[in-house]
Amino acid sequence: MAVFASGRGSNFEAIIRAVSSGFLKKIKLSLLVCDNPAARALGIARRAGIRTLVVRREDFSKRSEFEAEIIRHLERCGVELIVLAGFMRILSAEFVRRYRWRIMNIHPALLPAFKGAHAIREAFDSGVKLTGVTVHFVTEEMDSGPVILQEEVKVRDNDSAASLEKRIHRLEHKIYPLAIRLFLQGKLKIKGGKVRIAQSSGRSSTAR
Ligand code: GRF
Repeated sequence: MAVFASGRGSNFEAIIRAVSSGFLKKIKLSLLVCDNPAARALGIARRAGIRTLVVRREDFSKRSEFEAEIIRHLERCGVELIVLAGFMRILSAEFVRRYRWRIMNIHPALLPAFKGAHAIREAFDSGVKLTGVTVHFVTEEMDSGPVILQEEVKVRDNDSAASLEKRIHRLEHKIYPLAIRLFLQGKLKIKGGKVRIAQSSGRSSTAR
């Protein structure tokens, strides 16, 4: 598995904990891909002894070259699952197709509501009473792939954007490892563009 992150890395941290506690079994967290040399996530990886790849988009004239460099490392590490955790770049359709049903993302809202980079703030400002967290497979269109897990967070009358954000992150750290575990157990089946979670274990022919 490789995690892609651009910033704080709290989901990355939660995934590391899930691996070291044994909640995620038979998986190696082989690589952190990071496009921001100042990201806190890099320090987390180093402390945990996880290999890092820092690739700055500005160092490549074309996105395809930037992605080719990433793919080279993914292949070298034998990566089969890509987990986006606050990665602030949009992956090309070619990249997504290459790793079809093997790229997951976490989004801090109940998709398809509040897509994009400011979901928590926009949900808070809109006055919704309910928001939440979505883990989904990545497809060519941003924040639109089949939903794997979704859980709600109630917006309280006395919430600030910051207090709401805190509860959303806490939930993210719980459900991302859960979604990854379902993947590893082969329980995620894709049918008619939707994810079905198989009750019994067994490898899926479509999602792996
Ligand atoms: C999370 O809120 C995630 O949902 C979004 O980016 C944020 C990353 O936070 N995609 P962190 O870097 O994992 O702390």
